[in-house]
Amino acid sequence: MSKDGPIPIRMPAAVSLLPARAAALHSARRRSSSRHSQPVGTPEAHSSNSSWLRLNGKVAVVTGGASGLGRAISLELALQGVRVAVLDVQPEDQGLQVVNMVTSSTGQHAMYAQVDIAARENTLPETIGRVASTLGRIDVLVNNAGINVPALLVDEGGKHEVSDSVLDRVLAVNVKGVFRVTQAVVRHMLECGTTGGVVINIASEAGSQGSAGQSVYAASKGAVYAMTHSWAKEFKGSIRVMGVSPGVLEATGLRTPAYEEALAYTRGQTVQQLRESYAKGILLGREARLGEVASVVAFLASHRASYIDGTVLNVTGGKSWL
Ligand SMILES: NC(=O)c1ccc[n+]([C@@H]2O[C@H](COP(=O)([O-])OP(=O)(O)OC[C@H]3O[C@@H](n4cnc5c(N)ncnc54)[C@H](O)[C@@H]3O)[C@@H](O)[C@H]2O)c1
Repeated sequence: MSKDGPIPIRMPAAVSLLPARAAALHSARRRSSSRHSQPVGTPEAHSSNSSWLRLNGKVAVVTGGASGLGRAISLELALQGVRVAVLDVQPEDQGLQVVNMVTSSTGQHAMYAQVDIAARENTLPETIGRVASTLGRIDVLVNNAGINVPALLVDEGGKHEVSDSVLDRVLAVNVKGVFRVTQAVVRHMLECGTTGGVVINIASEAGSQGSAGQSVYAASKGAVYAMTHSWAKEFKGSIRVMGVSPGVLEATGLRTPAYEEALAYTRGQTVQQLRESYAKGILLGREARLGEVASVVAFLASHRASYIDGTVLNVTGGKSWL
């Protein structure tokens, strides 16, 4: 909330459905008779079923929650009754727009903490302490923040080649950042004797299948698979650790003009050809809607997924199975 009152919410076109959907879901909850009239299998049908997931009263930290998938996850969790702390490197006003959107759509308390999870100085323990004292506890961590800088291992054209700087940037956020946030949150959970803690890491299909022009990103997401499996073995069920692996999402902040230009270059394509290729090789014939991935995150965070641990779930629409 700004000093001048609520900040108007300007949603990018790619996620413009979210507030409308949230409002629809909010009013649908109030009209309990309409709850069962929603088509089975839609994200909306899952989202309205908060009593089934029983996440009400939980507290979640969502990194990278100021944009794209993280914003959709923050909203979905709040719709399920979760108080959400959005952590992101984006300026305060952008983070607060998401917090305002979440609170006005769901009535849930939410907060924003601006933090660079890859900064030279690790401020995560202090940030996580602030989240816990503001929201009372932490039950769920969603490691969603991530970046992608397409580059070829060897680029004879000399334009987009893997460099130390690309390696350092991508691994710092996608690997070191995930370590740091999880260490701070899990330490807090253990110190507080939290039961039923959950860590959900957003990986990528590239992390298991590889991706031309994205080997640094793929390597970083492969590390997310490894962290997920290793931490689950360390915690032995006292904190469930799972991954969610999307294939191609509808456009988010990650898909910048610079990203598309570089990825198209590494694949010998025009940007137009690259765009036309996004849905190719996906059984469902389309990119994932953000809400479809967010619903899976909410399910995994819930007691309904109590027998799922140490695994990374593909949410790819059947990508690569054609
Ligand atoms: N977009 C896709 O097609 C796709 C596919 C598979 C997996 N993913 C993964 O989904 C996750 C979300 O990506 P998205 O597509 O929503 O992108 P996005 O750029 O919209 O969101 C990423 C968020 O992370 C934040 N962030 C980046 N660096 C940070 C840092 N150092 N500290 C704190 N926050 C930081 C950004 O500010 C941004 O808000 C990422 O982990 C990404 O790798 C995306």
